[in-house]
Amino acid sequence: MLKKPAERLNNMKTILVTGGAGFIGSAVIRHIINDTEFKVINVDKLTYAGNLESLEEIAANDRYSFEQIDICNSAEIKAVLEQYQPDIIMHLAAESHVDRSIDGPGEFIQTNIVGTYTLLEQARDYWSQLQSVKKAEFRFHHISTDEVYGDLPHPDDLDSSLVTVGDALPLFTETSSYAPSSPYSVSKASSDHLVRAWHRTYGLPTLITNCSNNYGPYHFPEKLIPLIILNALEGKPLPVYGKGNQIRDWLYVEDHARALVLVATKGKIAETYNIGGHNEKQNIDVVNTICDLLEQLVPAKPVGVEKYKDLISYVQDRAGHDLRYAIDASKIFKDLGWKPEESFESGIKKTVQWYLANHQWCANVQDGSYQRERLGVC
Ligand SMILES: NC(=O)c1ccc[n+]([C@@H]2O[C@H](COP(=O)([O-])OP(=O)(O)OC[C@H]3O[C@@H](n4cnc5c(N)ncnc54)[C@H](O)[C@@H]3O)[C@@H](O)[C@H]2O)c1
Repeated sequence: MLKKPAERLNNMKTILVTGGAGFIGSAVIRHIINDTEFKVINVDKLTYAGNLESLEEIAANDRYSFEQIDICNSAEIKAVLEQYQPDIIMHLAAESHVDRSIDGPGEFIQTNIVGTYTLLEQARDYWSQLQSVKKAEFRFHHISTDEVYGDLPHPDDLDSSLVTVGDALPLFTETSSYAPSSPYSVSKASSDHLVRAWHRTYGLPTLITNCSNNYGPYHFPEKLIPLIILNALEGKPLPVYGKGNQIRDWLYVEDHARALVLVATKGKIAETYNIGGHNEKQNIDVVNTICDLLEQLVPAKPVGVEKYKDLISYVQDRAGHDLRYAIDASKIFKDLGWKPEESFESGIKKTVQWYLANHQWCANVQDGSYQRERLGVC
């Protein structure tokens, strides 16, 4: 027999998501509200990367709440845990842009390491006081990156007549050694170690996922794919680092969101799951694909531009740039049945179409006007 709505609301799990106004966090929250019955609390500081407009379609839902909180503020984290009594914490809040971490590592150390430590300590305190059933079911899910593993051999380093991209080359598995290269990946690696230690030492029920590069709608326009789309439409140079041969394993963000909620609710405590898209692409191939799509979708180009590809501009490589990342996602498939639904071809087309239809979102997030004008926060 179907439960009455009020009863259903009472039995429903409550998930606290940190960083829910960011690119991946907002996809997770849209998925939770649209496809599950869970309640969700979005805890986000609203840095330049956090945009509540990305959540506009679900913001009025009575299963959604927002709290503007810095995860480094232990008193506010304590209060929000006491108020909402979550069953699951999904921790996505982070500084996430590698170039910014090279220019100014301090914020990355603060949010990604000190913030994760603060959250773990408050979660431990909250969890240790829960009643037995709720305590046994509680989970702390830490969302991390494949960049903690450093980089992998690149086909250009090998005899190129024998290997093609992705063929017979090693992949990151859950047992790969940590060898982070940038201040960003070091800060994420440190946070992973903290999470494992809080499980091993204090018994906090934790899970970790390490994912490859995401792409899709609502991605802040400083990252490669939205930057290339928007620059091309404005006739600006399309910056490509070094030779453009860096390989990333691209995953459509909505596939990642499904994987994360599955791990948070069905994953085994203390386990790590690698998540990837089986889409190894060189950066230059990604840029060329976007240019080809724009040729079809927006043939009328800015004045003086004959072909979008003419805008490609090779720039000095990023310091310490990792050459290749690639994920073996067989464990999450075997244990939890997850696999990506989107191919790179279908996902990148959807992404380009989304940016073409959402110029205003891009303008608003770049100047912060949505939050200032509609919500009175900055
Ligand atoms: N984007 C990717 O390709 C990718 C891949 C693998 C893993 N990850 C991880 O996934 C998580 C989310 O990544 P993203 O791309 O959505 O990042 P993002 O930069 O788009 O969003 C980060 C969010 O965290 C919030 N935030 C930052 N500092 C905070 C603080 N001190 N307190 C509270 N909130 C704070 C921001 O306001 C923003 O909403 C990160 O932990 C990142 O390391 C990202």
